[in-house]
Amino acid sequence: MPLDILVGAQWGDEGKGRLTDLLAEQAQIVARYSGGDNAGHTVTVGGRVFKLHLLPSGILHPRTVGVLGNGMVVNPARLLEELAMLSQAGVEVSPARVKLSAAAHLITPAHIALDRAEEAARGEGRIGTTGRGIGPAYTAKIARQGLRAELLLDPEALAERVAEQIRQANRTLERVYGQPALDPVAIAAEYVDHARRLAPYVIDTSLYLHRQLRAGARVIAEGAQGALLDVDHGTYPYVTSSSPAAGGVFNGLGVGPKFVDRIIGVTKAFQTRVGEGPFPTEAFGPEAERLRGTGANPWDEFGTTTGRPRRCGWLDLVLLRYAIRVNGLTELAITKLDVLSGLPALKLCAAYRAGADRHEELPLGPADLAPFTAEWETLPGWDADLSGARTPADLPPAARAYLQRIEALAGVPVTMVSVGPERSQIVFL
Ligand code: GDP
Ligand code: IMO
Ligand code: MG
Repeated sequence: MPLDILVGAQWGDEGKGRLTDLLAEQAQIVARYSGGDNAGHTVTVGGRVFKLHLLPSGILHPRTVGVLGNGMVVNPARLLEELAMLSQAGVEVSPARVKLSAAAHLITPAHIALDRAEEAARGEGRIGTTGRGIGPAYTAKIARQGLRAELLLDPEALAERVAEQIRQANRTLERVYGQPALDPVAIAAEYVDHARRLAPYVIDTSLYLHRQLRAGARVIAEGAQGALLDVDHGTYPYVTSSSPAAGGVFNGLGVGPKFVDRIIGVTKAFQTRVGEGPFPTEAFGPEAERLRGTGANPWDEFGTTTGRPRRCGWLDLVLLRYAIRVNGLTELAITKLDVLSGLPALKLCAAYRAGADRHEELPLGPADLAPFTAEWETLPGWDADLSGARTPADLPPAARAYLQRIEALAGVPVTMVSVGPERSQIVFL
């Protein structure tokens, strides 16, 4: 059974890209099943840093095919930019290696303008979206007004549909939000140009994946975002508009669960979040600054997509256990253990307190975390630089104890620990 699922177990940016890249060595196909270019997946190979937003992180292996599944929302201009970036870097990105689902939805400039106008109108209640048009594109999909990638195969129909969509969005942009109207004719012409270049990539990816899986190919489903940003299971309404949790794989790729082997959840050794919303283990002041870094290292906690400083805090086991449950995780991969080196003590949140009550599980899920405060466990830190660790024996006893405590509180095995952004900086447990 050769479908491995790799999902974020937190609020995104867990290091899914770097782990997908590592595991893709053993896979024939890597497929994205949800989200769009709100994702920013950083992969570091031999000192070269690749920032991927739409293409699956397996694409850097010469023989791995990348699939953009039907569950995605795709900005064609951004996809073309990413294909060009990779091509310039010497990565082959012909239609033989990149497949775009005919049923994926297209993002247009109107979705982006609406995303930004809606955020501005929310004021204090803003979500902190990436401004990439994700919410409005999924809204259009669910409202049965979306533009699917299959239109790239019919430029005449595409031009008509795009112009119509822009005209309709203009009414909202102008009348509701007082924003300038977009030019339907110019944008339709741009999309016809995108279609000319992207049409060769469009196929029925469900059929393709099914045939490959039946023939024994190993496929990795690469999550974007994270369980706590899932529209159903996340910290609603401070979530994205798609289903990044493992269940989203089946709808987002059009394959059945029978193929699944491993369901790997990726979590940092601490907790971060970018954008608004509750965060019970958030740290502030010097503690937060220490976890975030100054921006001097490429991995410091500043958004890949937007450059925003990420909010930082301590690992939250209540939310991690929740992510294990809603994703059905078989194992955990922990990233950025190296970042904790030099801290005198480490905190873990094993349970929440709300008044006199203690909660190991959230009564109503994580939508409203406001009543809860963290109950801390404090563990000793370590000083050693972990970046050269390759086997469990290379880790100091305090680091091993920290991992063992996480494993005990999580209830699933920790199978991989990364100690740096490079493909090689990994310890298999
Ligand atoms: P993703 O969205 O889940 O793929 O994660 P991002 O790429 O947005 O953010 C993870 C950041 O941490 C990237 O800059 C990675 O290169 C970096 N990174 C991943 N794993 C490690 C690690 O174990 N140690 C360090 N120091 N950096 C890491
Ligand atoms: P990767 O795949 C971190 C967050 C945004 C915002 C909320 C909604 O790199 O882990 P959206 O633009 O999706 O409507 O924004 O979701 N968000 C992410 N945070 N990593 C991501 O992707 C994210 N994608 C969206 O910051 O809070
Ligand atoms: Mg990211």
